[in-house]
Amino acid sequence: MIWAIVPAAGRGSRYGGEIPKQYLDIAGVPLIAYSLRAVLAHPSVQGAMVVLSEDDASWPGWTQIDGKPVRTCIGGAERADSVLAGLSALPDDVRPDDFVLVHDAARPHLRASDLERLLDLGRGDPVGAILATPVRDTLKRAGGDGGIDATEPRERLWRALTPQLFRRLQLTRALEAARDAGIAVTDESMAMERQGHRPLLVEGSDDNLKVTTPADLPLAEFLLRFTRE
Ligand code: C5P
Repeated sequence: MIWAIVPAAGRGSRYGGEIPKQYLDIAGVPLIAYSLRAVLAHPSVQGAMVVLSEDDASWPGWTQIDGKPVRTCIGGAERADSVLAGLSALPDDVRPDDFVLVHDAARPHLRASDLERLLDLGRGDPVGAILATPVRDTLKRAGGDGGIDATEPRERLWRALTPQLFRRLQLTRALEAARDAGIAVTDESMAMERQGHRPLLVEGSDDNLKVTTPADLPLAEFLLRFTRE
């Protein structure tokens, strides 16, 4: 059984504004609805655990979407704390060895074919897998004084996206270990890698964008209107 954990407890400090970015309106629907529907659309995904901030006044209170259960729990200060909260709040019938999908609330444009490929390949891997895309730009290392110190080779560099697919207990252990070591992990895979695991990279689409700044919103709206699968 696969459940999705959708961390939505961020305050969106890089985005600014009154409403957290996951609740911004796209064609009359909050952004998070697209992210939830995209993961719930796969027949193997049984339900979603949405992780909210304690003072969330915007969550619409859905208890199901497209006939699948949607539950909520309260997250923490960092994204990893929120994912840990989601893992521990999963229904009891999600077993320790079952895979869970972690998908950012702020990624509304997940293609069904990407999710399908991630699940196909990830479930065949002993550890799990993440969606990612190869880096296409030239990368510069900043010197801190406005100058460029170096150009980094981009071969073999990938941008990590979500969803990321791992087993419930292994991921819990990995996130707890990072937290106990005081290491801020920015995705689930980073916590798993610290434990010596080697998750599979599954190539996703460049348009699986995370809405992070106001400039991303019209782009997300365009993608959702015109490039739905
Ligand atoms: O801040 P960032 O864009 O990396 O957030 C990615 C996702 O993690 C967002 O959906 C955000 O709501 C969520 N998050 C969370 N708890 C936090 C910080 C971020 O659930 N403490």
